[in-house]
Amino acid sequence: MLPSARNRAQSRSSRSWSFSGMDYGDSRRKPHFVGKVLLAGFLTALCIFMLRQSSSFDGTNVFSRHEDGVTHVLVTGGAGFIGSHAALRLLKDNYRVTIVDNLSRGNLGAVMVLQEQFPEPGRLQFILADLGDAKAVDKIFSQNAFDAVMHFAAVAYVGESTLDPLKYYHNITSNTLVVVKAMAAHNVKTLIYSSTCATYGEPEKMPITEETPQVPINPYGKAKKMAEDIILDFSKTSDMAVMILRYFNVIGSDPEGRLGEAPRPELREHGRISGACFDAALRIIPGLKVRGSDYQTADGTCIRDYIDVTDLVDAHVKALGKAKPGKVGIYNVGTGKGRSVKEFVEACKKATSMDINVDYLERRPGDYAEVYSDPSKINNELNWTARYTDLEESLRVAWAWQKAHLNGYGSPTVVDS
Ligand SMILES: NC(=O)c1ccc[n+]([C@@H]2O[C@H](COP(=O)([O-])OP(=O)(O)OC[C@H]3O[C@@H](n4cnc5c(N)ncnc54)[C@H](O)[C@@H]3O)[C@@H](O)[C@H]2O)c1
Repeated sequence: MLPSARNRAQSRSSRSWSFSGMDYGDSRRKPHFVGKVLLAGFLTALCIFMLRQSSSFDGTNVFSRHEDGVTHVLVTGGAGFIGSHAALRLLKDNYRVTIVDNLSRGNLGAVMVLQEQFPEPGRLQFILADLGDAKAVDKIFSQNAFDAVMHFAAVAYVGESTLDPLKYYHNITSNTLVVVKAMAAHNVKTLIYSSTCATYGEPEKMPITEETPQVPINPYGKAKKMAEDIILDFSKTSDMAVMILRYFNVIGSDPEGRLGEAPRPELREHGRISGACFDAALRIIPGLKVRGSDYQTADGTCIRDYIDVTDLVDAHVKALGKAKPGKVGIYNVGTGKGRSVKEFVEACKKATSMDINVDYLERRPGDYAEVYSDPSKINNELNWTARYTDLEESLRVAWAWQKAHLNGYGSPTVVDS
């Protein structure tokens, strides 16, 4: 059972961290220098290849002009988990897509999968750039004719944000200002913004509606709220069409197994519950430590709202379709149904067919008992409903990808289970 995973686990350091109700030990090996050089060369070659692919036969770049019947969407952070799934869906729905990503956290492998799926000229373009570089961003906007922007690019770990808050204000708040300024300067009139339920902080009343006061309690949530405020204030002075989507906990992966979630090894300490469960199933970590089993909930563990990434990107596409000039739409994207940590772990055990060690520890200060959304507004106004609500099934799909990609988007390694 899982021999390569076990071997890898033995070569790991045994540091352990605590996050979102769980403790975690890691980590995957960092690539060495030669690997990095090879990767850089490969990256450059790939970018050139993709840019060539994007030229039409008369030598002009189709991405640089608007075309009737074609909507060209800039997907920032499109090499990341959610952004790559969104790009896949947009391409499937015949949008023209430009991904801008600095690959600080995303995976070129995800972009390559998209490129393989949609190799035709004029469909997908990848631009390696940092949104913090205002000049580069302005150049990208001046050389491309975008109709809309889906802004996913961000650093996105609550724990990391408390350790390095300035990084979060810079990467999320300041970079969103750069994007909005470029949109304004280049007359791009539709923005779909990827926000988070972390902007609500610790509301007393559940479920969370869009009217729930936003009182974020960590730099991640605060940076996202400030980015929202920038967008909202600008929208009052322009006819920009704005949709702000506030997500809950995102799980799952592409049901056809083309894409998955592959965070940087060094980030796994700040990571998310599904990643921790899979790592425990793979014996990369010895097990899970659940913080708190005496909450006022049915089984005593915390309750959260988990949304499958396929449903989430569907919400983005519907938001894009319904975005109207001069109008702002703000929506919670959750299932409206809370699941306990215990339920989640049980679903993970079933999905992976692995026994997972779980230790129940004292509560962690600051964790709140129950968080879930009220999705009625998005149900009613965007005609969106979560369809992938079977936790076990979402985890099974994600596990299949994880098992087949033990090195993330690196070379595939399949294990028996
Ligand atoms: N995953 C979740 O559970 C969750 C929940 C709520 C909200 N969100 C939001 O969804 C968005 C995407 O999250 P994700 O889970 O896919 O994260 P991710 O880390 O997988 O993807 C983020 C992508 O943005 C890129 N990026 C970061 N900084 C950049 C910069 N300065 N310039 C260019 N590219 C940059 C990264 O390289 C990466 O590819 C984020 O805005 C996050 O706040 C995620």
